[in-house]
Amino acid sequence: MTPAPPELDYESLFRLDGKAALVVGGYGGIGGRLTDLFVKSGASVAVGGRSREKAEEAVEEHDNAIGVELDVIDRESVDRAVAAVVERFGSLDIVVNCASLLVEGRAESLAEDEWRRVLDVNLTGAFLLSQVAAGPMLEGGRGGRMIHFSSTRSVAGGRRGFSAYSASKGGLNTLIKQLSTEWARHGITVNGVAPGFVATEFVEAAAADESFQRMLLSRIPMARFGEPDEMAATALFLAAPAASFITGQIIFVDGGVTASS
Ligand SMILES: NC(=O)c1ccc[n+]([C@@H]2O[C@H](COP(=O)([O-])OP(=O)(O)OC[C@H]3O[C@@H](n4cnc5c(N)ncnc54)[C@H](OP(=O)(O)O)[C@@H]3O)[C@@H](O)[C@H]2O)c1
Repeated sequence: MTPAPPELDYESLFRLDGKAALVVGGYGGIGGRLTDLFVKSGASVAVGGRSREKAEEAVEEHDNAIGVELDVIDRESVDRAVAAVVERFGSLDIVVNCASLLVEGRAESLAEDEWRRVLDVNLTGAFLLSQVAAGPMLEGGRGGRMIHFSSTRSVAGGRRGFSAYSASKGGLNTLIKQLSTEWARHGITVNGVAPGFVATEFVEAAAADESFQRMLLSRIPMARFGEPDEMAATALFLAAPAASFITGQIIFVDGGVTASS
């Protein structure tokens, strides 16, 4: 049977009223803005990360929000966090994954355990989180939205030592496509947001390197870096009714970097 398309209400194309979201990394540079935007857009939000204290601090000013502790590479902690969201909000409709590890090191000398740590968090962690979150989304055919943060490094090499990070994000793009294909018939969409450079703690080392910054800027057609709010707004679009027919896509929010050569 052909599934019926949703009826789109022009007033609420970008609203998340009545939806429950888990934002992993929801107190980070991009995740913090995203949490605020999701709450303002009507969602109940669980902010997750490895620090319970930071997660709870991030939701202090919001009524319909909770902090949960989880590490994406620890399945039991992911199980507990997802169960806590369902218990508090009654469902899990949206998962946003901002958790990520960047270890720089020239390819000729990067330690094997560093390589594995990056792949573990950025790729295996994304899989575990998706697998656990799919549970309540599949139950009763509710469906849902999954949004993973990728990177412009997922489709091109970088001059600095990004081999593990680039490979993990390239793998993540393919995982997004695979999951989206498997779960489309269950009403779950899976998409990615791929930022260019955004000045957060995550890229502290690169931000301190002035010549690298100049080189980066010279390659951005829009001649500036991205803002956390611009990444959050793209995630909102993918989580909202407006994106009901979009799945398996990676949206590059990069001022034109990946479009130019
Ligand atoms: N900033 C950029 O220029 C840039 C560029 C391209 C792509 N991105 C991507 O955008 C996303 C967000 O980046 P950001 O700049 O906002 O980074 P950020 O400020 O470092 O935030 C990352 C968040 O993820 C959490 N986290 C890290 N490891 C985790 C784990 N194993 N389990 C659960 N949570 C974990 C961190 O909290 P704890 O450490 O306390 O757990 C933190 O809240 C990442 O996927 C990153 O790869 C960023």
